[in-house]
Amino acid sequence: MQKLAIQGGTTLHGEVRISGAKNAALPIMCAGLLTADELHLDNMPDLHDVATMRKLLVQMGVTAAVEPGAVTLCGAQVDKLEAPYDMVKTMRAAILVLGPLVARFGEARVSLPGGCAIGSRPVDLHIKGLQAMGAEIHIEHGYIHAQVPHGKGAKRLKGARIFFDLVSVTGTENLMMAAALADGVTVLENAAREPEVVDLAHCLIAMGAKIEGAGSDTIVITGVEKLHGARHRIMPDRIESGTFLVAAAAAGGDITLTDARADILENVLEKLQEAGATIHTAGNTINLKMNKRPQAVNVRTSPYPAFPTDMQAQFMALNCIAAGSAMVVETIFENRFMHVQELRRLGAQIDVEGNTAVIKGILQLEGATIMATDLRASACLVIAGLVAQGETVIDRIYHLDRGYEHIEAKLSALGANIRRIT
Ligand code: EPZ
Repeated sequence: MQKLAIQGGTTLHGEVRISGAKNAALPIMCAGLLTADELHLDNMPDLHDVATMRKLLVQMGVTAAVEPGAVTLCGAQVDKLEAPYDMVKTMRAAILVLGPLVARFGEARVSLPGGCAIGSRPVDLHIKGLQAMGAEIHIEHGYIHAQVPHGKGAKRLKGARIFFDLVSVTGTENLMMAAALADGVTVLENAAREPEVVDLAHCLIAMGAKIEGAGSDTIVITGVEKLHGARHRIMPDRIESGTFLVAAAAAGGDITLTDARADILENVLEKLQEAGATIHTAGNTINLKMNKRPQAVNVRTSPYPAFPTDMQAQFMALNCIAAGSAMVVETIFENRFMHVQELRRLGAQIDVEGNTAVIKGILQLEGATIMATDLRASACLVIAGLVAQGETVIDRIYHLDRGYEHIEAKLSALGANIRRIT
């Protein structure tokens, strides 16, 4: 089991290049199932989840030619329409093969994703949407078995009007991909507006899909018979960007993110300025300066463009050592406070009542041995380790490797005293 050892107390200085977005790369890789042509993806992040998704697609018959920071997928020889439990259980995003497989091949068997640390995370909206488009779906032995009934013509989904009871990012992505090859027009209402949904739409449009309204809560997709290959550059990771900015706001210093985008981080940047950081953005760089103790900031998670749930844990770490008290309200997932217990081991003063945590900032956290429980909680613990006095050792950092490319190398380059130990 690998761990991270961090000596707290260093400030952060210098430049860090932001990698391609995990939550854009994963759905866009699944778009490779929608065509028999080659899909070439640039700015691919080197992440465990990306490797898992690639393995899943390859075992279905997709070819994947990997180069540094890029991959060329080809879905010409797909011959296995199944996503097995042992691959889905480690990465919920595997559900994103469901829409493309049903749309192009008229059939799919995808393991129901188990729950995960942060919540039960059902996929009922994905299933309801495909049923609305004409798929027959049976849940049997833990698998979703979807089929398009053998009509007279080809087994093809039909366009439909679909209203999401809840805003679902991968639900929107799955159904947008399915609708791209459906017969007729599909309207997704109350769709997710996340930038990763927009990046997927841009890739699909480059492949010949007809999509309007991506980025708004109503997306209209006019199905086409076939999609062709394309080249697409994955957008920068806004959560990795936010994570480094919060780390510098907590530890103090002066860092510049490169290959980043400020326009998709407005809410997070506003919160960091409220905490006392000075921020300058220019082109694809974001600079943050912080030379004093941060002010506590309240956050309430909500779908984009409101404050992202994937940044909640990081801001809780900042609030642990901020001046004043703050409330953190998590409205998206029912169990996304796993980091609270670990932060308390470092001396943090946090009270939790339901989906609300109240953090009373203290001057100094004390280093200790703690444990990562999920991806963004691990990032929170790294930030806490950077500001704690003495050494913090974080166990189970495989969670971190799922979503952050070489985080200890990037932090060391900024002056952090952090090393990986086995
Ligand atoms: C995506 O997960 C992201 N993952 C998550 O990032 C992110 O936290 C989440 O969106 C919210 O922004 C990827 O994009 C791969 P949802 P997703 O469907 O799509 C409920 C990270 O750290 N819901 O938007 O699974 C659900 O339980 C990960 O990178 C249903 O009830 O999230 C949740 O309460 C963690 N039924 C809410 O909707 C459904 O069919 C939002 O979930 C689908 C979702």
